[in-house]
Amino acid sequence: MNTSDYNPDFEALLDYLNQNCGCDLTVYKRATLMRRFQHRMQQLQIDNYTNYLQYLRGHAEEYTSLLNTVLINFSGFFRDRDSWDYLANNIIPKIIKSKQPHEKIRVWSAGCACGEEVYTLAMLLAENLGVEQYLQRVQIFATDVDKDALMQARQASFSENEVKEIPTEALSKYFEKVEQRYIFRSKLRSTIIFGCHNLAADAPMSKIDLLVCRNVLIYLHCQTQASVLVRFHFALAEKGFLFLGSAENFINNKHLFIPVSLKHHIFAKGQNLTLEDHLLIQPKTSQKKAVGPLNTQIRFWQAAFESSPFPQLVVDHRGRLFMANEKAYTLFGLNNNNLGAPVQDLEIGRIVNSFMLMRQLNGDRRPINLKNVEWKSDRGTIYLDIYITPISDVSGSLIGANFTYVDVTRYTQHENEVSTQAQICQELLRK
Ligand SMILES: C[S@@+](CC[C@H](N)C(=O)[O-])C[C@H]1O[C@@H](n2cnc3c(N)ncnc32)[C@H](O)[C@@H]1O
Repeated sequence: MNTSDYNPDFEALLDYLNQNCGCDLTVYKRATLMRRFQHRMQQLQIDNYTNYLQYLRGHAEEYTSLLNTVLINFSGFFRDRDSWDYLANNIIPKIIKSKQPHEKIRVWSAGCACGEEVYTLAMLLAENLGVEQYLQRVQIFATDVDKDALMQARQASFSENEVKEIPTEALSKYFEKVEQRYIFRSKLRSTIIFGCHNLAADAPMSKIDLLVCRNVLIYLHCQTQASVLVRFHFALAEKGFLFLGSAENFINNKHLFIPVSLKHHIFAKGQNLTLEDHLLIQPKTSQKKAVGPLNTQIRFWQAAFESSPFPQLVVDHRGRLFMANEKAYTLFGLNNNNLGAPVQDLEIGRIVNSFMLMRQLNGDRRPINLKNVEWKSDRGTIYLDIYITPISDVSGSLIGANFTYVDVTRYTQHENEVSTQAQICQELLRK
């Protein structure tokens, strides 16, 4: 957030919405948000954020009107015609070719607003496959965070003005004219599943061949954009494509998405995610408790990790050291060059076989507690209790594990002494 965008009264308003309406608007760009709030406040002739907060407290129904103002639902059939033509002529045939003739084709329109984008997609797929094949093989997920928009999208009913960009032939083939409205044919509509889904918080779909998310990310804060893009990477099948809006030029994470046509904002799925990518995704528990942008939360978690009274480290799913707190650095004599190294090559790898442990975690995902593990260090024998907790991403895949070490040497030595003394006593008694 720019410091110029910071206004404590506005932040209080966002906080109120977050706490009381379960709606986290902090994921959107502050400048755009402020403009949209002011627009709504002008309609109500309210001149400052504090008074608007009072108004919201007294008028529960205002929340819906506010959301309708903030979530800009503007859409259109074949919006940016050139890019849709490119998609129809180059990408959709590629997807079809990459599949077996009977295989399903999964498409996701994320932020579909009132449906124009989804029905544009449906028409292009039906044209490419033929209606019969389309009905058998295509599955379209159409999602938006705005329930009113989704309801409208489900109805699939459009005015004369709204359908003016649809070629005449396609209009008569795919729409039924009922009085003055154009209704998308119900048979083709049966392949579309509508659902409420918040891109910034909900788990993504999976095995998607074509993900269309146009003119949505542009409203999101850049950290939220980055985390949504990681979710999109999850969502895509290996040979899947991502189609963004014409003003969305911000993919700078080259390993996640490979440009297919920058002009048309179409990308192919890139390489595997790194642990850094995974960390861009907010954990599910933070949805309601979120108090600030993602980087604030990450700094907070890092500080919490650092201030743990115990040495802790994080190992990624390949068994490489990802991070360690100061106490772990000191105990195990680590340095920054060790980050990224296979744990087996480091001193910590001599204590327990982390490779075997990661395999075990991958199997049953249950935490592992090891008691009294003996470590012959330079400073003598140390006994450690080791708590190993699996870390999974939103899709449930194991991405690493947290290792916490509790030094129980004194306790173990004391126990050993007590048991030795008990043995001596027993022997003396026997004599
Ligand atoms: C400008 S419209 C774009 C519609 C369509 N994709 C297009 O390009 O024609 C933006 C849509 O994104 C939706 N949206 C905004 N934030 C969202 C979020 N966090 N998750 C899902 N949808 C969101 C809004 O409700 C709105 O319907």
